[in-house]
Amino acid sequence: MTAQTMEELVSLCKRRGFLFQSNDIYGGIKGLYDYGPMGVEFKNNLKQAWWKSMVYERDDTEGLDASILSSPVVLKHSGHEDTFTDPLVDCRACKSRWRADQLFENNKCPNCKSEDLTEPRPFNLMFKTAIGPVDDGSSFAYLRPETCQQIFTNFKNILDSTSRTVPFGIAQMGKAFRNEITPRNFIFRVREFEQMELEFFVKPGTDDEWHEYWINKRIEWWINQGIKKENLKKIEVEKNELAHYSKRTVDINYVFPHGEEELEGVANRTDFDLGSHTKNQNDFKITSEVMKNSSSTTKLAVQDLEEKKWYIPYVIEPSAGVDRGVLALLNEAYREENVDRDNKRILLSLKPHLSPIKAAVIPLKKNNEELVNLSKEIKSNLQKLGLGRVVLENSGNIGKNYRRHDEIGTPICLTVDFETLEDKSVTVRDRDTMKQERVSIENLSEYYKKYFN
Ligand code: GAP
Repeated sequence: MTAQTMEELVSLCKRRGFLFQSNDIYGGIKGLYDYGPMGVEFKNNLKQAWWKSMVYERDDTEGLDASILSSPVVLKHSGHEDTFTDPLVDCRACKSRWRADQLFENNKCPNCKSEDLTEPRPFNLMFKTAIGPVDDGSSFAYLRPETCQQIFTNFKNILDSTSRTVPFGIAQMGKAFRNEITPRNFIFRVREFEQMELEFFVKPGTDDEWHEYWINKRIEWWINQGIKKENLKKIEVEKNELAHYSKRTVDINYVFPHGEEELEGVANRTDFDLGSHTKNQNDFKITSEVMKNSSSTTKLAVQDLEEKKWYIPYVIEPSAGVDRGVLALLNEAYREENVDRDNKRILLSLKPHLSPIKAAVIPLKKNNEELVNLSKEIKSNLQKLGLGRVVLENSGNIGKNYRRHDEIGTPICLTVDFETLEDKSVTVRDRDTMKQERVSIENLSEYYKKYFN
């Protein structure tokens, strides 16, 4: 059974150190969360799994880690300065501010029920900050609202420094910022979040086929991370709801605890972005309108060697939210089980590669030097295998340790007891089945590697 309510997930996340309200001791800031000791491991594992599948396991992609602060010119030509807005209404009575599409009750203020509301007006979602020592508005940058724009601006740098030819992709993971008016549903809609984006450049005419390829590939990837197929929905975005750059977008929705919503979008961005950031207008036909004002001096195009013509590649973009992935996977993995008639346990049945802690080594008695030293040695040897974090639990309370590691999703616990000193074996307990087996210390590395590979 997956989590029944968002409250159960929020409570587990705080109790076990996955997520905390940011600036908590000063009352918090809405729409900002901090990843705690378990959260940071889990999030890094998820990002690593994405990087592995998007970069290491492919022969047609490269990686990038570009700056967050973005030039207003870039975001002018990307269309964000003009179109990245939500329609907002103000309540004149209580001075609260709402997204127009969230006034569910016949144009009444959700806070005070007043009907004295302003007309909707566009509100840009980008955060601005001053660049340089003088804050007089003359020099500013935006915090990027999506990670991909710097992939487009680096297109030529990457082409020139690698031997890539179309089709190929550039992958990037990192922070994005949006001044969401009504952040809500825990980490589902926040103001500071992370994206995992691939921009895959293809020859126009092959774009529809590549689009289908990436939609299916991404659904398959989420299933491999542990999401049940029936909880993922492929949703065709209506023509009138498409982003300004998109010819077609398919959302991969997930059934979150608060309802079904977007986990990842897979868009066909055509040549909109590379076209918009390109100055030379004469060599080829570009669909983008904004490029006419471009001050870029770079031609973000490639040459078709057979036809001896320049063209701007089309872009297929699978764009996933890391935080939404974290929420979805926690929800999928959450279980409550009866251990026996009187005892219940909560466990996170995460795939081992995503678990924050891979193994806990537990000496049976906390002050016994022999048991503790041997446990430290085992921990250190497993840690050296480089498969993720291994911890030593030196509290001496096996039951409590098992409960804690079930709740944070640790796949195996290794207990070092007095018998270990005799038979040079440890007890390995499996999180999901609670079955225990003895494994000799000599074979532990092999056992462990097999388990995680
Ligand atoms: N580059 C395309 C792009 O940014 P998007 O649909 O606006 O498209 C892509 O965002 C993904 O980023 C979404 O599917 C979602 O997972 C995540 N995302 C967007 N806004 C978010 C927010 N306010 N909080 C958390 N995740 C968000």
